[in-house]
Amino acid sequence: MDKFIIEGNTKLCGEVEISGAKNAAVAILPATLLIDGITTLENVPNISDVKIICNILEALGAKVSWTDEHTVVIDSRDLKCVNAPLEMTSKFRASYYLLGALLGRCHHAEVGIPGGCNLGARPIDQHTKGFEVLGATTSVSQGKISASAKKLIGAPIYFDVVSVGATINLILASVLAKGTTTLDNVAKEPHIVDVANFLNSVGAEIRGAGTDTIKINGVQSLSGNHTYSIVPDQIEAGTFMLAAVASKGNILIKNCIPEHLDSLSAKIIEMGGKIEDLGDSLRVSCNSKINPTNIKTLPYPGFPTDLQPQIGVSLAIANGTSIINESIWESRFQYTDELNKMGAQITAQGKTAVFKGVKKLTAAHLYATDLRAGAALLIACIIADGQSELYNIHYIDRGYEHIEDKFRKLGAKIKRVSE
Ligand code: EPU
Repeated sequence: MDKFIIEGNTKLCGEVEISGAKNAAVAILPATLLIDGITTLENVPNISDVKIICNILEALGAKVSWTDEHTVVIDSRDLKCVNAPLEMTSKFRASYYLLGALLGRCHHAEVGIPGGCNLGARPIDQHTKGFEVLGATTSVSQGKISASAKKLIGAPIYFDVVSVGATINLILASVLAKGTTTLDNVAKEPHIVDVANFLNSVGAEIRGAGTDTIKINGVQSLSGNHTYSIVPDQIEAGTFMLAAVASKGNILIKNCIPEHLDSLSAKIIEMGGKIEDLGDSLRVSCNSKINPTNIKTLPYPGFPTDLQPQIGVSLAIANGTSIINESIWESRFQYTDELNKMGAQITAQGKTAVFKGVKKLTAAHLYATDLRAGAALLIACIIADGQSELYNIHYIDRGYEHIEDKFRKLGAKIKRVSE
């Protein structure tokens, strides 16, 4: 197990290059299983979740080869319609996308109950409900979830809750179904639009991604020999924007899509930060005290839950009291106990946390409790007085590529140590 040792008190300044989006990559890689051909994906983030999926694709008979650090070629022509290895699929959350993709291509799928970050209850009832509307039967037993169908037939599906995973999974299951599927009350995150753009680029007929209703006309097959570049990671960009604010620094965030970050930019301006939109990059700086503000996490285009812990670090040192209301995940405030070890004054109960701003955080030994909490705690260590140690950094490696190198280029003093 690795840990980070961080020398604090750093103002982060310089440039950072944003990688491809984790949450798009973990959906688009399984989506390549729908193609009876060869696909080249560019701008793929080199993170541990992506490596696990590539291993699963290989176990299913796909040939996966990296031609450079961010380009992967997947040949799914000899896909074996077998069950995905349980020990691999139960390791991470996005393995549920194998259900939609394999159901679409093979009409049968079985994966281990998806694992991943502990953010509280993570039901997948909307996924299974959707598969059943298309004509599949689903069952859960012995730690596995399976779905099978003789034939998938397009149909209208209305989601009871807005779910990123269910929206993408039903797109995957219906692109090769017979007839038209209409998905209503869908999620609108940038990575959903990216999955739809990818599938359309190989011959799918998906309309409306990014709106509340998505219409999919089933096609007979998807064509290979195509190259697609994954969208930049909105959450990684937001993490560095918030690192600029918390450290009172000045960071040029390159290779991002500023409009994906509008809800965060608005909050940063309220907090006294400055944002310069340069088209495909953003400069974020903060020279003054941080103003307190209130946040409610919501599906896109609302404030993303995946940036909640990172903005929590800035609010912990704001000039007054702020409130965060977390409306997506019930256990997303675990990081506040860790920040309190650094002298923060945060009271979290249920869906709400009250942040009474303090002047300074002080170094401590901290434990990442999930991916985004890990990124937030790393920012806290970078700005705190003294030398901190951060444990459980395998969570961070799941979703941030070379995070310590990127922060080091901005002036942070971070050492990775293997224990
Ligand atoms: N929900 C249900 N039933 C379902 C599905 C979801 O009740 O069948 C509820 C969940 O309990 C939650 C809400 O709906 O309260 C939203 O869940 P969603 O399905 O949108 O989340 P997800 O697909 O499991 C993805 C991201 C998460 C991100 C959420 C919300 C991936 C692989 N994961 O999860 O990302 O927090 O959307 O935006 O795309 C992360 O990257 O750190 C991460 C946790």
